[in-house]
Amino acid sequence: MAEAILTATDLVKYYPIKGGVLRRTVGQVKAVDGVSFELLKGETLGIVGESGCGKSTLGRLLMRLEEPTSGSVVFDGVDMYAQKGRAMRKLRRDIQIVFQDPYTSLNPRKTVGDIIGEPFDIHPDVVPKKGRRKAVQDLLDLVGLNPEHINRYPHQFSGGQRQRIGIARGIALNPKVLICDEPVSALDVSVQAQVVNLMEKLQDELGLSYIFIAHDLSVVRHISDRVGVMYLGKMAELGEEDDIYGRPTHPYTQALLSAVPVPDPTLRDKREQIVLKGDVPSPANPPSGCRFHTRCWKAQDKCKTDLPLLEMRPDGAGEHLSACHFAAPREIIETIDLTEVDPTAQTAGA
Ligand SMILES: Nc1ncnc2c1ncn2[C@@H]1O[C@H](COP(=O)(O)OP(=O)(O)O)[C@@H](O)[C@H]1O
Ligand code: SF4
Ligand SMILES: [Mg+2]
Repeated sequence: MAEAILTATDLVKYYPIKGGVLRRTVGQVKAVDGVSFELLKGETLGIVGESGCGKSTLGRLLMRLEEPTSGSVVFDGVDMYAQKGRAMRKLRRDIQIVFQDPYTSLNPRKTVGDIIGEPFDIHPDVVPKKGRRKAVQDLLDLVGLNPEHINRYPHQFSGGQRQRIGIARGIALNPKVLICDEPVSALDVSVQAQVVNLMEKLQDELGLSYIFIAHDLSVVRHISDRVGVMYLGKMAELGEEDDIYGRPTHPYTQALLSAVPVPDPTLRDKREQIVLKGDVPSPANPPSGCRFHTRCWKAQDKCKTDLPLLEMRPDGAGEHLSACHFAAPREIIETIDLTEVDPTAQTAGA
């Protein structure tokens, strides 16, 4: 079994809610509330869940863009939140992020060369000044863009090309881990597949480990080795790709999967869609016991009082982690594999 590059233990992030004229803390948004997992070397861990469940907050905690309320992250054997100064700066090189929106995350007044080369200014020891232009051109080439376009501006590129620029910047410092926060969610479906394929190619070539965040299960399927499903700041289910898509045991995962489009029309009628009642409750006032009990069709009295732990539970073929008192496998008709939309699109300019 591969070694862990990153281990998160019981991560918690609460944001204070201020109220009244004195701006006193009147409550807390429980954005991430006790999340633990390992990211293995060279693997992709997909993180999925509806908007607001804490995915981006988790991503920021893993990069230490924010301090956690409690919990720890061990990165490459080092206790991340205990690092200071130089040691922390060095560590920052090794974990990079790619953001969702290539339209707003790139400075419109900077050339592509400046944008991709920016990490070299922050960490000047990585590439000597004279070698930077060449390094940026190599990066452009690596992500399937024309190195001669180094002096162009973001608006001269398409959405998919801009995300390639974001990826080039993310890998400029040769990191070990890339946190990808909805990197393709703003792109057309056909372009999504090309960018996902590019990321897989880069992972193979550079030996990267990915945390791949998305709100849509179909997006992470192909690229993920394992998938974690989040609900209201907690991990509901975590397992190998086959476990989650073939033998989901948590009702929330089953509902999410039942809503993913079915490509085969002969199978479409057989799909029983699980429609969840109500909206996602506020993370400022999450339900007691199991956080999903207000929307779960299997909920019993116990669910309102007892917090289900993320434990190994039988899934029909073996067992995997699930946080449900009544975990039981349920077959969901096969879903669409995003990268089969256009398998030849590996390096085509998106
Ligand atoms: N800086 C912040 N201050 C207060 N609340 C925040 C902050 N960032 C996120 N939140 C809240 O935390 C919850 C989780 O947000 P987020 O991590 O962005 O979820 P996701 O990425 O899954 O959509 C949301 O309710 C959001 O409003
Ligand atoms: S613990 Fe209860 S409410 Fe929570 S997912 Fe399982 S059955 Fe539903
Ligand atoms: Mg987000």
